[in-house]
Amino acid sequence: ALPNKVRLVEVGPRDGLQNEAGVISTEVKLELIKRLEDAGVNYIEAASFVSPKWVPQMGDAKEIMQAIKAKTDGQEGSVTYAALTPNVKGLESAIACGVKEVAVFGAASEAFSQKNINCSIEESLERFKPVMEMAKANGIRVRGYVSCVLGCPYDGEIAPEKVAEVAKALYDMGCYEISLGDTVGVGTPQKAKEMVRAVSQFVPVEKLAAHFHDTYGQALANIYAVLEEGISVVDSSVGGLGGCPYAKGAAGNVASEDVVYMLQGLGIETGIDLNKLISTGQYITSSIDRPNRSKVGLAHSA
Ligand code: HMG
Ligand code: MG
Repeated sequence: ALPNKVRLVEVGPRDGLQNEAGVISTEVKLELIKRLEDAGVNYIEAASFVSPKWVPQMGDAKEIMQAIKAKTDGQEGSVTYAALTPNVKGLESAIACGVKEVAVFGAASEAFSQKNINCSIEESLERFKPVMEMAKANGIRVRGYVSCVLGCPYDGEIAPEKVAEVAKALYDMGCYEISLGDTVGVGTPQKAKEMVRAVSQFVPVEKLAAHFHDTYGQALANIYAVLEEGISVVDSSVGGLGGCPYAKGAAGNVASEDVVYMLQGLGIETGIDLNKLISTGQYITSSIDRPNRSKVGLAHSA
């Protein structure tokens, strides 16, 4: 059975923009975030506290998160603003900006772990432990990502058992939700289902999220498949922006507009205003001079 409600995690300002080579001003990023809020999005991954040498586009994480803090201080927030923190240094910077929600990111593939965060899977899990402790001590919630859950650009096929092992490790160390990333967008629906079944033997399915890139045009089909398996949290990026700097050729995340359109058609509630989301996709893709990769967005601009 399909869920009645789906929670959307908007990763556009982070995953969507991290791979852009050109300078995107902090103002444009903040305007994007504001428009997403106006559209009713209640979870926005806004920045990454990673090395600016590795990912220059996220170099203004501090400015972004401070501007958000200034805006939300003293208000009971209904919107969650999150940032990636790969290590203690990243978390310290996030805490200094008043961030209340972060994410650590590991991988089910050794080669990708090395390319992305410069350490093995095991080392990454060790590195996350002090992050988890410091987060807990500061009342910060931590989401966990597993990359390459349906294939790796370097290692090829990935066993569902390996995904389950890394997801379990992140869950056991205190991540409240595990987002399963098809980083390269190579997955297909039956494989996605089998992977989710393998993971949900160790992590309750209500604690899992789907994070699918659309390189091979399979993301919506994969999302539908995993909704049938009980997943009810979906990561997406407005305008279908994005890609990972350490997964060459990987396209953007599934477009948020397309996910919301599909969910509306299925009678599944998201709390999001589709028309405002479409305008937001048009705003950001035209601001950074990128083609709009949301089919729904394109249909509405024709
Ligand atoms: P490293 O070089 O092994 O780290 O990088 P290090 O501890 O040896 O430090 C080296 C330098 O980086 C030092 O500076 C540190 O201060 C600095 P230097 O002394 O040379 O001037 N440094 C930092 N600076 C700012 N913030 C920090 C930080 N940490 C160290 N937090 C590191 C290790 C993890 C930092 C590096 O590999 C890195 O930044 N990687 C970024 C990877 C990334 O952002 N990838 C994209 C996001 S993941 C993704 O897109 C997948 C996802 O969407 C899910 C999916 O689709 O599958 C989540
Ligand atoms: Mg991603």
